[in-house]
Amino acid sequence: MKDTFTPTDSDTSNLASRRTFLKGAASFGLAAVAGAAFAEFLAGCTDSGLGLAGECQEGRTSPYYKTIASQTVDISSLTASGQSLDLTLTETGGDTFPAILIRVAADKYLALSQVCTHQGCKPEYSAASQTFGPCPCHQSVYTQLGCNVSGPAPNPLQKFNLTISGTTATIS
Ligand code: FES
Repeated sequence: MKDTFTPTDSDTSNLASRRTFLKGAASFGLAAVAGAAFAEFLAGCTDSGLGLAGECQEGRTSPYYKTIASQTVDISSLTASGQSLDLTLTETGGDTFPAILIRVAADKYLALSQVCTHQGCKPEYSAASQTFGPCPCHQSVYTQLGCNVSGPAPNPLQKFNLTISGTTATIS
């Protein structure tokens, strides 16, 4: 089941442009076109990856998103929900970048880049507030699930594919 995406401040311009489009389409009797545009909007703004309310990354792109080869991580230290592991992941080109693996629930894990989608600084994760940031460069804040909720960051933090087998996580 897909969760409904709640647009953030940074999504306002996208939402506004779609509203303008939908209004214009309706005025010309293009209900079918409007319906298709709305379906596209929903598809681009929801994510069923973890089945958690508030996910927000599917369909997004950013110049700060990385391409990585599959990497494994020992997660035996994550014995309780809310715990996290700081990671250094390697891009396919060989550069490294900060990331984090969070045990968000008893049986749910999340691997996120910690490269801010505004200009590439590192927003720290706070387990206490379950947020990333404020980013040290321009104060963007992200939810625990990586959704950009304030500041100039235009996109969510990158979420990686994750497979758990015993105490090994494979990130790709
Ligand atoms: S680089 Fe993070 S808010 Fe600008």
